[in-house]
Amino acid sequence: MYARIAGTGMYLPERVLTNFDLEAMVDTSDEWIRTRTGIERRHVVADGEFTSDLAYHASRAAIEDAGIEPGDIDFILVGTTTPDLIFPNVGCLVQERLGIHGTPAFSLEAACSGFLYALGVADQFVRGGQAKRALVVGAETMSRIIDWTDRETCVLFGDGAGAVVLEQAETPGIMYSNLGSDGRYRDLLYAANGVSVLPKEGEGAALRMKGNEVFKVAVKTLGGMVDEVLDKNGLEKGEIDWLIPHQANIRIIQAMAKRLRMPMERVILTIQEHGNTSAASVPMALDTAIRDGRVKRGDLLLLEAFGGGFTWGASLVRY
Ligand code: UT7
Repeated sequence: MYARIAGTGMYLPERVLTNFDLEAMVDTSDEWIRTRTGIERRHVVADGEFTSDLAYHASRAAIEDAGIEPGDIDFILVGTTTPDLIFPNVGCLVQERLGIHGTPAFSLEAACSGFLYALGVADQFVRGGQAKRALVVGAETMSRIIDWTDRETCVLFGDGAGAVVLEQAETPGIMYSNLGSDGRYRDLLYAANGVSVLPKEGEGAALRMKGNEVFKVAVKTLGGMVDEVLDKNGLEKGEIDWLIPHQANIRIIQAMAKRLRMPMERVILTIQEHGNTSAASVPMALDTAIRDGRVKRGDLLLLEAFGGGFTWGASLVRY
């Protein structure tokens, strides 16, 4: 038994913050942000709007796309690093909004790799027969953990949510998942909004990143991971139809495309529209490319992400 993607959905909050808006807030320029990252604008939640709201809207869209009812879902998993509360977890909050009761619902935090981790876990439940239809979400309100005076991070991130419905199938589906992490890099990218650990004096509670160092490890690690995915599945470079990468930096994405010998026309790029939305970026890119007709049933997709922890993940999917 395998898990196949039956439907996808996404949601972006209404408010848009452009690079020009940021020029008025910190010492930066549209030109620097565009050329160094590929980002042009990002979406930001309104007061009173939370991660579970974004996750709910994306989930509704995915459920509708799959042609099922919320009651058909029997497993909910949300990848997020910006939960509404410590608990109840975002999965439970989404479950309640969807009017479902009794299914397992939980969230996991693996920073920008959160969706790939959630997909890998949900795949196991579907394949093992413990879930018939799983709702898998990546949702973030990164704007809530950003230091809006730090130009090195505030220009990069945005809010959003993406979701997929997985269902049992006799053929894949999700062909292969590769997950990894290395906690030795914990100090290069973190948010000090501690629950058990309090922020250090003067450090504040916001996200901090040594961008340049993260960049180098990201390119190296992702490169090794995509080689491994091809190798383990007996695929040659160029055999993937679509690369659906985490949207952190256009230069990292270009490096991956080059490594896979894929032209940029075969890479789904959404970073210009919403910046780095952490766990939400891969499912949003997937949904975008399915809805605009680029990704078609039967296509071979490579999803990949890298983020704080460090954590990383990839999924080879026959859509
Ligand atoms: O999603 C999780 C994983 N995250 C990532 O993968 C992010 C990886 N890192 C990156 O994407 C890039 O490293 C950044 C976009 C964060 C930074 O780009 P960079 O090319 O590595 O720039 P840099 O950090 O080496 O900084 C170059 C210069 C510095 O000035 P000096 O020292 O050369 O005078 C920075 O102070 O750019 C300056 N700078 C800025 N200038 C204008 C840094 N941020 C800004 C800014 N506006 N917002």
